[in-house]
Amino acid sequence: MGSYPPAEPPTQGAGLGLVHRPRRNRKSDWARRLVRETTLTADDLIWPVFVIPGERTRVPVPSMPGVERLSIDEIVREAERARDLGIPAIALFPFTEPELRDATGSEALNDQNLVCKACRAIRRAIPDLGLITDVALDPYTSHGHDGLLDDEQILNDETVAVLVAQALNQARAGADIIAPSDMMDGRVGAIRRGLDEAGFQHVQIMSYAAKYASAFYGPFRDAIGTSATLKGDKRTYQMDPANGAEALREVALDLAQGADMIMVKPGLPYLDIVQRVSSEFGVPTFAYQVSGEYAMIAGAARNGWIDGERAMVESLIAFKRAGARGVLTYFAPAVAALLKA
Ligand code: PBG
Repeated sequence: MGSYPPAEPPTQGAGLGLVHRPRRNRKSDWARRLVRETTLTADDLIWPVFVIPGERTRVPVPSMPGVERLSIDEIVREAERARDLGIPAIALFPFTEPELRDATGSEALNDQNLVCKACRAIRRAIPDLGLITDVALDPYTSHGHDGLLDDEQILNDETVAVLVAQALNQARAGADIIAPSDMMDGRVGAIRRGLDEAGFQHVQIMSYAAKYASAFYGPFRDAIGTSATLKGDKRTYQMDPANGAEALREVALDLAQGADMIMVKPGLPYLDIVQRVSSEFGVPTFAYQVSGEYAMIAGAARNGWIDGERAMVESLIAFKRAGARGVLTYFAPAVAALLKA
């Protein structure tokens, strides 16, 4: 930093007499690579996958161009490809048939439900791929909420008891990481105790600690079939988009209760939260580039309005720059293939 005006007007050299020319470090590809601060690799990626019943079945999600719901045999094939591309883990989300949904989400506790069957099939075929399962009741409830509903209220403590049973059901099926996305108070501690008492000390918890009540989940709800059934909204349990300090309190609570990893969700609209969480706590912090974020990029690209490949990579490097250890993204296989090419 110099003073202005400079004491001695420059006499040597041409033009402005600048000491610092930041463009020197950008002059060529090798020079840019040399000073690059962050990198994106396949190790940064977690791939969320939608599971549907049946065999040899792939059903596109219209609001997520390029994303398909997959039957278990198809998932095993795709998961093998993901592992070969270097993706460390996948996250499973079920589409539950409407007749299996009820007020209490009892299908969540069925050890033959889609997620459990998928876990066993993937575990058998690909033992070295990380398996993440979502803990929340919304794929299984007739009202589409993440917890038990009493009139207009989502019951907290009663829901937590069911979530513990759901987590145990998933751990028994072979889940490596339990990811509670329900935003009930106290669920991380209760799940940790439940897992430990049942001998699952090695199973990790990736907590959706700062999960906002967001419009960007719309296409996901199409994919798992809850858009039409969801009664009201989730604002009494998911966070208010206006709040940042509250996210830090949520993260502190989940860490105190035993969370191994933290997630911030959605992603790009909440990069400030990603940065604050990763710098304040120094724990593995993940961001979820959710369905609506995917839809914006993939939809605009499909219309020829943006360069989809570049927008994909730029959006993902932004998470790394903000301090995320990794990203859950529907782009995972596409970007991993691009990085390998
Ligand atoms: C369910 C859950 C949601 C998402 C992940 N887990 C939806 C919601 O809370 O309504 C959204 C993911 C996405 O939009 O990609 N608890």
